[in-house]
Amino acid sequence: MRDVGGRRAAWLPPTLLLLALGLGAGPARAHPQCLDFKPPFKPQEGLEFCSMYRELGCCDAARDAELMATFYTIMDHFSYHAYSSCAGYVQDLLCQECSPYAAHLFDAEDPSTPVRTVPGLCPDYCSRFWLRCRSVITFLSNDTVLADLEQDQHGFCEYLKLDDADYCYPHLLSNRELTKDLGRVTADAEGCLQLCVEEVANGLRNPLAMVHAADGTHRFFVAEQVGVVWVYLPDRSRLEKPFLNISKAVLTSPWEGDERGFLGLTFHPNYKYNGKLYVYYSVEVGIHERIRISEFHVSTSDMNIVDHTSERVILEIDEPASNHNGGQLLFADDGYLYIFTGDGGMAGDPFGKFGNSQNKSALLGKVLRIDVDDNNRGPPYRIPPDNPFLQDPAARPEVFAYGVRNMWRCSVDRGDPVTKEGKGRIFCGDVGQNKYEEVDIIERGKNYGWRAMEGFACYDKKLCANSSLDDVLPIFAYPHKMGKSVTGGYVYRGCKYPNLNGMYIFGDFMSGRMMALQEDKESGQWNYHEICMGRGLTCAFPGLINNYYQYIISFAEDEAGELYFMSTGIPSATSASGVVYKLVDPSRRAPPGKCHYDPLPVRLKSKLIKFEPKETLMGVDIPTKRSRLTGEERPSPAPTQTITKDWLQELLNLFNEEWMTTPVPKTTPTVAATTTKMTSTTPKAPKPCKSRKGRRRKRKYKNGALRLAGNTEGMSDRGRVEIFIAGEWGTVCDDLWDIKSATVVCRQLGFSYALRATKQAWFGEGGHLRILLDDVQCEGTERQLLDCKHPRVGTHNCGHHEDAGVMCGNVEPVDY
Ligand SMILES: *[C@@H]1O[C@H](CO)[C@@H](O)[C@H](O)[C@H]1NC(C)=O
Ligand SMILES: *[C@@H]1O[C@H](CO)[C@@H](O)[C@H](O)[C@H]1NC(C)=O
Ligand SMILES: *[C@@H]1O[C@H](CO)[C@@H](O)[C@H](O)[C@H]1NC(C)=O
Ligand SMILES: *[C@@H]1O[C@H](CO)[C@@H](O)[C@H](O)[C@H]1NC(C)=O
Repeated sequence: MRDVGGRRAAWLPPTLLLLALGLGAGPARAHPQCLDFKPPFKPQEGLEFCSMYRELGCCDAARDAELMATFYTIMDHFSYHAYSSCAGYVQDLLCQECSPYAAHLFDAEDPSTPVRTVPGLCPDYCSRFWLRCRSVITFLSNDTVLADLEQDQHGFCEYLKLDDADYCYPHLLSNRELTKDLGRVTADAEGCLQLCVEEVANGLRNPLAMVHAADGTHRFFVAEQVGVVWVYLPDRSRLEKPFLNISKAVLTSPWEGDERGFLGLTFHPNYKYNGKLYVYYSVEVGIHERIRISEFHVSTSDMNIVDHTSERVILEIDEPASNHNGGQLLFADDGYLYIFTGDGGMAGDPFGKFGNSQNKSALLGKVLRIDVDDNNRGPPYRIPPDNPFLQDPAARPEVFAYGVRNMWRCSVDRGDPVTKEGKGRIFCGDVGQNKYEEVDIIERGKNYGWRAMEGFACYDKKLCANSSLDDVLPIFAYPHKMGKSVTGGYVYRGCKYPNLNGMYIFGDFMSGRMMALQEDKESGQWNYHEICMGRGLTCAFPGLINNYYQYIISFAEDEAGELYFMSTGIPSATSASGVVYKLVDPSRRAPPGKCHYDPLPVRLKSKLIKFEPKETLMGVDIPTKRSRLTGEERPSPAPTQTITKDWLQELLNLFNEEWMTTPVPKTTPTVAATTTKMTSTTPKAPKPCKSRKGRRRKRKYKNGALRLAGNTEGMSDRGRVEIFIAGEWGTVCDDLWDIKSATVVCRQLGFSYALRATKQAWFGEGGHLRILLDDVQCEGTERQLLDCKHPRVGTHNCGHHEDAGVMCGNVEPVDY
């Protein structure tokens, strides 16, 4: 796959790294939700009756018409006078099921309790309603309790009251906090867009590509780095037999961060008719490591299996080193096959006079473009007649663009669903060396700068000064404090989440940060937004979750254009901890029926394995609602059945309490890599416990003593670094934490080497301790950690999710 920050990681214990973002600061997010437990939408056609919810709500035109019919049926029972004083109320009450907050208004958010038949009313409104037209209630509701209360104003309005006054009708309409961002992707105080995810598949070994065949079946094909491709049906069940298994031929290893393996897969645009697909993988040929691009055919007898004997090698390229192997294959709108190679590896593209990437006679560090149509006879591919360097005798004719370092994940924009704007553009993430990660739009004949430039900055100063290089600058670059290995994504062009249209959504493999770029059509600039998992209740919809594993390996688009990504907690080709997630905008969906499609049937010859989701919403523990006052418990509420506060508030309280006091369980250390420091919510660590009376173990620690904690495997050579200063044990923040500091720690503890400096509470959070050191900078030669440069003991701007750790060893680490 990609460069994981220079040093290849040694074997790591199976630690779950989970990104559960947004479990912290900020007020409760408003949580629009319809009675079907989904986000609100803008109806396709205008609403005539409940027109107040024409722009955003939960009813389409058909439901609106039904409500209008109900309205007239009810009003038929009344005289003109009653009609004129009650019509407005009846309409209001009927239309509230179209409110974007319908689930709140009807107490429907807990699917296990009965839904109200009449929306929750604010007391003042209820009193007016009761005084003027209480007799209509029996037409609006078959709730016998309500009917019994018809003559009792107080009881009636108590019964219809919502516990959270913010959500009662009609005050919620004028509650600016609830309405101001309604229907928009909301951002938190730091500007981070709040999205959610849905688990789609799991148990995958470094899933690095998910593609569809554009054949109408809406199957998706997920490739694992070891060389196995699985077929999934639209209902998310998986076929027992793999689609393709070339694991025997594929060169990879269990080492975390090994960039070799099965790296890419794409279907011919005419796959439906010619059954051809293309794969990109690492292979050992004699003593050489190569990348190989091959063509396969689907089996003639089973549409879910590749004919393994059909392999035809299209192209092989020698790889001088084991990293930077590229791996993307795609067909762009011109029907040609694009191949994205890496620069050959090592660091700084050291090959030849000025590296491979700037050398147009090398196939490495390039975007190649070939024509594989009608290749059944003759050569496996031809050169498209408009490839840019055909006239350059020193250039390989396959070269389409150059100056590429190691593009990891590229995609073709489908274009705006209506205007087709943007259609055909190719977006790539190009992994940087040691300062910047970049996103590029690939154009014919262009130079993307490497190794002269990295992002917007010069890397090789001499080459960079040569203006004749004429590089194309990235549309966006970010420094390594935000992430160290970009994973290119897709421009969202799906149907279900109209707010996301036009956003290029991508991520970072190392930091787990999810990001979006949006084009400003006037200036041509790309504006950056960070994407966070929805805070608080934002993702509290059935089936949605608010966390994902840190190592974002790849993005994907399904046949309908919806967006997915794949990540894992352990980036090893043999660890089955990869998950496929679908991105979901909880603030707005498309109107019902708009995104409907009928997948073509799939003929099955292998068993189906049902999908079982494993991930859960984190930090939001929806309590079972107090029993709503059902008939049996009414009319006089027994004192033991006191109405508790609204479940929403209850939930928030719970949630705050939990966050404030309980350290996150060890198995799911949160990594808040993509949120800024949570200073405002960092729990205050309780004072260190004075040792209890009685059996008190006498032990005197020296200032600066170290211990390694938090390793469940009981291995003494690795753990969270804890330091003893001034009579107290505390943790070390991972800001500036690096292998030099880790080396000092390991030597101080009697080991010869540091294998790894771990960050972000890799070994769990030392939540019960104070954070004693921050910004530690060691030369590597200090006798103990406390000798290294650091600010005053106890001053920091960190949370325990940034606790530093080490892995030590006595064998010199092998640097691949
Ligand atoms: C009341 O009406 C709703 C639908 O209008 C129905 O689902 C429910 O069963 C009815 N309840 C009773 C007690 O008749
Ligand atoms: C893939 O093939 C290898 C041998 O070529 C075999 O050991 C392995 O079990 C196969 N995997 C699956 C999932 O069929
Ligand atoms: C460019 O690459 C080719 C093919 O690898 C190599 O033979 C040649 O020496 C390189 N040129 C320079 C100037 O490094
Ligand atoms: C600048 O680049 C051009 C084209 O690659 C090359 O011919 C020329 O020698 C370079 N000049 C310097 C000073 O490196």
